[in-house]
Amino acid sequence: MTTWHSEGVRIRRMVPEDYEEAYALWERTPGMHLQQLNNTYGGIALLLRENPDTCFVATDPDGHVIATALGANDGRKGYLYHVAVDEQWRGHGIGTSLINRIYDVFKAIGIVKIGILVVADNYEGQEFWKKQGWNTRPDVIYFDHEL
Ligand SMILES: CC(C)(COP(=O)(O)OP(=O)(O)OC[C@H]1O[C@@H](n2cnc3c(N)ncnc32)[C@H](O)[C@@H]1OP(=O)(O)O)[C@@H](O)C(=O)NCCC(=O)NCCS
Repeated sequence: MTTWHSEGVRIRRMVPEDYEEAYALWERTPGMHLQQLNNTYGGIALLLRENPDTCFVATDPDGHVIATALGANDGRKGYLYHVAVDEQWRGHGIGTSLINRIYDVFKAIGIVKIGILVVADNYEGQEFWKKQGWNTRPDVIYFDHEL
């Protein structure tokens, strides 16, 4: 596997100015099931404001966003959102490197458990998480509610 380092890819914190390119990536990535309500510019800017150290992008040699992984925590658990790598950049370890960056920050602040919601028909995504050592929770049913 060629590593992303040698391909001129950089990983850095995501900033609100990345929104347009990140959103375009999420829109063209099957399996993301983008909800409109909290994926607006304002919604993502709020996430970045509250979690500036755990939201990352990877950029190509021209500086364009080719991958994202957003980490958030509420002081009890950490959550991952929008882990996506553009199709032509997959298999270089970029996804793993992004989430490892988030793990490092969570561990440093004492967050010891993390979760992610994966849509039921995203089998590839589920395989990725299993390969990363994550477990499913068939004993839990997820509820949500709009305010
Ligand atoms: C899942 C995803 C983020 C992986 O990104 P990536 O940069 O290609 O992943 P990596 O190169 O770090 O791969 C890490 C390992 O997982 C494996 N892997 C990656 N995608 C996989 C898949 N779909 N099925 C099985 N294994 C997979 C790789 O083979 C690699 O294993 P290795 O270390 O033994 O070679 C990327 O495929 C993607 O964006 N998918 C669409 C969006 C999505 O489903 N996101 C996750 C669910 S929310």
